[in-house]
Amino acid sequence: MNANDIAGELAGRHIVLGLTGGVAAFKSAEFCRLLTKAGATVQVVMTDSASQFMTPVTMQALSGRPVYCSQWDARPDNNMAHINLSRDADAIVVAPASADFIAQLAQGRANELLALLCLARPIGRAPLLIAPAMNREMWAHPATQRNVRQIAADGAQVLAVASGDQACGEFGDGRMLEAGELFEELIAHLAPKTLVGQHVLVTAGPTFEAIDPVRGITNHSSGKMGFAIARAACEAGADVTLVAGPVHLPTPRGVRRVDVVSARQMHQASVDIARSASVFIATAAVADWRPASEAEHKIKKDGSGEVPQLAFIENPDILAEIAQSPRARAGDLYCVGFAAESENLEANAQAKRARKGVPLLVANIGPATFGRDDNALLLVDDEGVIELSRASKRMLAQQLVAEIAGRVSGAAA
Ligand code: C5P
Repeated sequence: MNANDIAGELAGRHIVLGLTGGVAAFKSAEFCRLLTKAGATVQVVMTDSASQFMTPVTMQALSGRPVYCSQWDARPDNNMAHINLSRDADAIVVAPASADFIAQLAQGRANELLALLCLARPIGRAPLLIAPAMNREMWAHPATQRNVRQIAADGAQVLAVASGDQACGEFGDGRMLEAGELFEELIAHLAPKTLVGQHVLVTAGPTFEAIDPVRGITNHSSGKMGFAIARAACEAGADVTLVAGPVHLPTPRGVRRVDVVSARQMHQASVDIARSASVFIATAAVADWRPASEAEHKIKKDGSGEVPQLAFIENPDILAEIAQSPRARAGDLYCVGFAAESENLEANAQAKRARKGVPLLVANIGPATFGRDDNALLLVDDEGVIELSRASKRMLAQQLVAEIAGRVSGAAA
């Protein structure tokens, strides 16, 4: 995870990072670094067992603050570290959370500082995220599973465990998530839940139209904007399906991805998924035409100097077709189109909005966005024009999702 990608994501947030005993503590060192790079202030709290795996000095250096290890710490004027620490937190993340710590939480015990502050936290205001880390047998044990259910019922968010090689030499479930995954979980947890109950379909990336088994026609779309939108929609609480053309981008956490190659495959997948979607955001740069026929074998140069003649046929317009579907016309499916223009952004966007029959059209200057990490957008709808000024695609995706959520909930009201 690149520092530039996350700069400012957690500006103004205060995170209490709790460590309990587990070899996965080394991942929490990296997680702490990500939190501070994202602009958060981080207060580390460690149990005695955690200090066997990672020194408080290391965590102090990474967080830039003295670490708390004991409820008898005399630093707070009021001698109430557990109250002060939990009152200031925007979120408390316990990573790694040992089986014993989870058992303590399940019982509401408070015999050391970290468990004490979790119990003392204002439940409605300070979310508690638990990242379990333990041997696979300990994780699968009925007592642990019972405790996990109990703390979830008591208001904690228990993060998933990963499967793989374990420090003990065994293989299975119980590994703690990686630092980047913990970071994404936290960001998602803190995002406003504006799209809960919505099923959002996003198309992204280019398409590839085969000429023969080894050649084809494609374009420069990187898919970054669509992937960022899928991620932001998922963080906003939507159920998200991303239909992706050929790109090498990681799937955002929590997003269902369907990989396609050609425009016809993207069309088929999108039409199927749109039947149950409530929002459709078409960011893909779909090829307008494809070769009229795909040669069965590689077209060979035969030395005669003759060049092959390609004939083209038009691809289906996925957005226009779905926007005219009965569900979209009835207002059950809100459609958003994108337009990559090279000039006259507003006029072209208005014309395209009418042509596609969509309520919202998002325009950008194609050459100024393809492959880049930043962009600037112009939103055109019935009400007029809204400009989202140049920013990272990540930030623009969050703003766009908020705009769409406002329109969708407005329509439902
Ligand atoms: O017509 P144009 O390609 O400029 O339209 C762009 C918008 O239409 C984008 O939202 C794009 O994803 C969508 N589109 C589509 N199917 C096509 C062509 C474009 O869904 N065949």
